[in-house]
Amino acid sequence: MTDVKQGIWITGASSGIGRATATEFARIGANVFASARRVTELERLNSELQNEKLSVEIFPCNVASSANVDQAVKKITASHQINCLINNAGITSFKEAEANSVQEITDIINTNLLGAIYSIKYVLPHMIEHGGGTIINILSVVTKKIFTSSSAYAASKMGLKGYTESLREEVRKYNIKVINIIPGATETTMWSPEIRKENADKMMTSEDIARLIVWAYLQKGNMVTEEILIRPVTGDL
Ligand SMILES: NC(=O)c1ccc[n+]([C@@H]2O[C@H](COP(=O)([O-])OP(=O)(O)OC[C@H]3O[C@@H](n4cnc5c(N)ncnc54)[C@H](OP(=O)(O)O)[C@@H]3O)[C@@H](O)[C@H]2O)c1
Repeated sequence: MTDVKQGIWITGASSGIGRATATEFARIGANVFASARRVTELERLNSELQNEKLSVEIFPCNVASSANVDQAVKKITASHQINCLINNAGITSFKEAEANSVQEITDIINTNLLGAIYSIKYVLPHMIEHGGGTIINILSVVTKKIFTSSSAYAASKMGLKGYTESLREEVRKYNIKVINIIPGATETTMWSPEIRKENADKMMTSEDIARLIVWAYLQKGNMVTEEILIRPVTGDL
């Protein structure tokens, strides 16, 4: 008998898609290890989940810091097993390349690309040791179509696409599944309040994306859905 708790580690679980995904996984009875920088938001998530007699375990983590990610993975795996890593933490700027400051570019690449790579790097030996796992990356339609005012964001998401497609071929032998989720416009705080107000009926919801992520994770047997592209029915904004 082992009392090791198996579960799902979600980065960026304090709002939007990550928060909805943490909720959906908690609802199906999975243990959720929830990370983000804003611990108060993660605590607020737990207060909401209490109404359904559910909860997540909170592991604060800034994915842009490799030391922070290393520490968070050590804390989680000290008593838990990570079956699934969801690389969801992300930021953008919606500015033209010329207008982006060096700091903004650095933050976007460090969070969206390096943050996900650090998380994979530290979780991988643990998954290999436990005989497998699932890595789910939240990419974006910017990996499929050209958008302006998205250059650093597109670089980060395309970089992660390249990284994980190479990784996928390496880790098949360890029974590790790599799933890339590619959402279009989803109504979250990533968008300005004006855009959200104007386009709310044209955008997907975090809850819709979350249910899809859970479905992709739950696929059984010798099968993996490697890539899922999801757009609003009316198309991109
Ligand atoms: N919304 C869309 O239309 C859309 C479309 C395609 C893909 N996506 C992707 O979906 C993912 C989630 O975004 P969202 O739309 O749900 O936006 P959101 O509501 O702004 O959520 C972003 C999450 O990332 C976390 N985060 C940001 N920087 C972090 C850092 N350095 N370390 C740890 N966590 C960090 C935030 O938490 P803290 O601030 O508390 O750290 C927050 O929980 C992102 O990767 C985004 O690129 C979004």
